[in-house]
Amino acid sequence: MDKIQYEAMLKSAFATEFAFYLKSAGFHWNVEGSDFYEFHLLFERIYTEVYGIIDDFAEELRSTRIYVPASFTQLDTLSQIECQEGVPQPTQMAQELLADSDTCAEMFRVAFDAAEMMGDHGLSNFLADRQDAHKKHSWMLRSTLK
Ligand SMILES: [Fe+2]
Repeated sequence: MDKIQYEAMLKSAFATEFAFYLKSAGFHWNVEGSDFYEFHLLFERIYTEVYGIIDDFAEELRSTRIYVPASFTQLDTLSQIECQEGVPQPTQMAQELLADSDTCAEMFRVAFDAAEMMGDHGLSNFLADRQDAHKKHSWMLRSTLK
């Protein structure tokens, strides 16, 4: 992996994480049904955790001399997860977020290996934490869906 591919991968990881935050916040706002409150709180827990690291992620990129994608157009182009334009049923929301969270966990696993290879150990620690956080989000979503 050369420097250009490395930067593109990290920008894509940031855009994907931002898209995941926005989708989980949207589900928190729009969820409906008899289990409304359970899903409303679950989605809140997830989006709050992710939102809390967005600024750190952006500053990790800047520390690595990478400009942060910060327009909706750039974020949409670079994200690896699909936007949700509609309002699915609560369990469909959870299934979709579970698939996206698994995508994020795998994405951060790959990004961690690349950052280690590049000698960016501070960044790789951050990426390892993101993989771990998404494994936890996936666990909660998967358990809710049983
Ligand atoms: Fe809220």
